[in-house]
Amino acid sequence: PSNSLSVNKESSLSVNKESLQKQIDELSTFSDSPAPSVTRILYSEKDVMARRFVKNLMGLSGLSVREDAVGNIFGRWEGYEPELAAVLSGSHVDAIPYSGKYDGVVGVLGAIEAINVLKRSGFKPKKSLEVIMFTSEEPTRFGISCLGSRLLAGSEALVKALKQTVDNHNISFLDAARSAGYAKDQEDLTSVFLEEDSYSAFVELHIEQGPILEEESISIGIVTAIAAPASIKVEFKGNGGHAGAVLMPNRNDAGLAAAELALAVEKHVLDSGSIDTVGTVGIMELHPGAINSIPSKAHLQIDTRDIDESRRNIVIDKIRQSASTISENRGVQLSEFEIVNQDPPALSEDSVIKAMESASKELNLTHKKMISRAYHDSLFMARKSPMGMIFIPCYKGYSHKPEEYSSIEDIANGVRVLALTLAKLSLS
Ligand code: GLV
Ligand code: MN
Ligand code: MN
Ligand code: MN
Repeated sequence: PSNSLSVNKESSLSVNKESLQKQIDELSTFSDSPAPSVTRILYSEKDVMARRFVKNLMGLSGLSVREDAVGNIFGRWEGYEPELAAVLSGSHVDAIPYSGKYDGVVGVLGAIEAINVLKRSGFKPKKSLEVIMFTSEEPTRFGISCLGSRLLAGSEALVKALKQTVDNHNISFLDAARSAGYAKDQEDLTSVFLEEDSYSAFVELHIEQGPILEEESISIGIVTAIAAPASIKVEFKGNGGHAGAVLMPNRNDAGLAAAELALAVEKHVLDSGSIDTVGTVGIMELHPGAINSIPSKAHLQIDTRDIDESRRNIVIDKIRQSASTISENRGVQLSEFEIVNQDPPALSEDSVIKAMESASKELNLTHKKMISRAYHDSLFMARKSPMGMIFIPCYKGYSHKPEEYSSIEDIANGVRVLALTLAKLSLS
């Protein structure tokens, strides 16, 4: 077997671009919103179709497929020393409402193609190589981000929370999972937890979701750290009432409390003084949602992140203070203030960074080290395994909107770097 990897990598690691593009396009049709947008929500019919599509591709690549109780999907290529901890690569295919077709998808279909590339080149893995499709990286349905990887990383708190988590239609997490064929007769999701040392490395390929690589004409981003994300749910309650009949001095408008809090979030974020602090109120819902009814309830979800965890935590504290001051001043009740997650940042492992760097060099691809401002399943896999991420350029840095785009040439470069990185880690 040509295991020296001293083969001519330029010619031997070749990506089938046409078929990869076709797969990306086909997967994008499993969507609940019209093209070019993609909407694929956890355990929906379209998500189940996407899962079938991915499992089928894994099978065609000769991987043995297994799924855990929440639907993390694994495909394994057994190495010639199968007792060694495997090398894992993958990402997610769920898509937030009206997003694009590359976020996550490139890292799942790209990892399967990386396996194909290695197989075509005659490579034989020493450590087994596995591909993973994580369940629900996006928080859309149940408000919990990186659900699958959080569980894999062993979050007892999440196991507990999932027993009472419901979606907007009051469908419980467990019922939703069962409708998609998971969590069969299990209340207990601790079966998903990874054993210590299950994996010797984890590598995720992903579009940058930022403009740097494209602006600087660099092919490969080597991620050294992932910024610390947090999310908060807030609810204000007032008396509501008739929009004509209740006079202004007599109101306690829950909607205005929400609006004021949204502006306070922006202020606290800007007051950090760092360009790296960000905050977003992406959800603001008013009840009953009628033009002639004073909002009696307002629900907000706040996302805030920073590469500096303590600075991010200061912002969270200030948001909490503002929520309570606003509720006092406006005579509305602060009926909920829940920090859903407040995660630390994660660092890539030197050994994985080195493998990604030398793979890029050997393939003559320009590369630079960078941080990830978006979160990824890698944030949680880093708790269980040495982790690294490969970024590729995307058009104007667009993501989480339909205009998201990466060229197949850039994707193929990422797949080749991934393939060679996996090969190196497999033999190491
Ligand atoms: C995940 O998609 C994120 O919001 O970073
Ligand atoms: Mn995303
Ligand atoms: Mn993603
Ligand atoms: Mn993400």
